[in-house]
Amino acid sequence: MPAKQAVQKRKHFSQVSVRCQTYFCTMSSLIGVDLKKAAALLRAGELVAIPTETVYGLAANALLEDAVLKIYQVKNRPQFNPLILHFANYQQLQACGLELPPMALLLAAKFSPGPLTYVIPTSAEIPGIVSAGTPAVAVRFPNHPFTLELLQQLDFPVAAPSANPSGYVSPTSAAHVASQLGNSISYILDGGDCAIGVESTIISFLEEQPRLLRHGGIPVEAIEAVIGPVNLPGDGFVDNPIAPGMLARHYATRHPLQIGNLEELVKQALTRHSPSEIATISFTEPVSGIPATNQFILSPSGDLSEAARRLFAALRLADEMTVSLILAAVFPEEGLGRAINDRLKRASAPAPASIPPSH
Ligand code: TXA
Ligand code: MG
Repeated sequence: MPAKQAVQKRKHFSQVSVRCQTYFCTMSSLIGVDLKKAAALLRAGELVAIPTETVYGLAANALLEDAVLKIYQVKNRPQFNPLILHFANYQQLQACGLELPPMALLLAAKFSPGPLTYVIPTSAEIPGIVSAGTPAVAVRFPNHPFTLELLQQLDFPVAAPSANPSGYVSPTSAAHVASQLGNSISYILDGGDCAIGVESTIISFLEEQPRLLRHGGIPVEAIEAVIGPVNLPGDGFVDNPIAPGMLARHYATRHPLQIGNLEELVKQALTRHSPSEIATISFTEPVSGIPATNQFILSPSGDLSEAARRLFAALRLADEMTVSLILAAVFPEEGLGRAINDRLKRASAPAPASIPPSH
């Protein structure tokens, strides 16, 4: 190789190597397992993505209004949609002037820390921006060892919605967070893949009878086994003022998504699209007529927990494919199947221009 060419080639490789080093250096300083660094950033009012057992959260010091404001800005989230406060333990919650009512305490004894969120009257200590100006605040005790340890080091709760741009699919890994919010946040605490994979169940204690506001990681059957019947979100809950964030459309993929009888949906879609233009999400079985590479089978063994754990990653992968639409099965309406169906229905809801996305 002539000397000039060799020099150019070396120069090219060294530039690539510098770029790679910069890339890995940037990525490695963005994603890590440094709890002290995460705590210091939160104290300073910066945003940190945190792992939980459900999905990754975008956390800020809940007692600093300016820090909480950044969450809304980075997610492009409407400010009428309140945030969940995360605590390590009950003493921290009480230190903020909050109390769980007796029925919530019964649930907490069984399910906290874990994927259950309690909506309760707020206190003077909690800035109005957290509860979106409403007299109620949502609180939970996440069950992830890193985040519990992090929260124990802090003398404030963190407000944390799911760490995705408002309206998009929630993240269940540090890489999911980095791919969408990597440029706008200070640090991502990497706690691996989320064990539950769908968000917490939300239950409100503002009325005499508890009301389920969102199906999630704790099935409603398990809740009713502890405290008896709870009111369920009715069909009209989209406009329910006590759940301002529960709008019809979110968890939405960029490709249009339809949910229903999968065989039927595929048959209809094949009249307008070629098989390779279609991706499918099914529970246990593949569907005929679609290439195997386009199919996401969430749990061949029929385990709804496994299906929930894999749901959001499958939606993201399907969305990254060059397909025209995503077709999803209806899951059994029991246990975690309710949360799966809820997320798929919302992802498939039409997006009227007048309704902003909720999460
Ligand atoms: O599993 C989870 O709950 C995750 C992790 C990060 O903790 N968080 C999460 O947050 O899903 P987000 O913001 O994506 O969803 C919280 C939901 C929204 O629908 C919001 O409207 C509702 O909780 N919410 C929050 N505060 C509320 C309140 N005071 N009253 C009624 N609904 C409330
Ligand atoms: Mg969300």
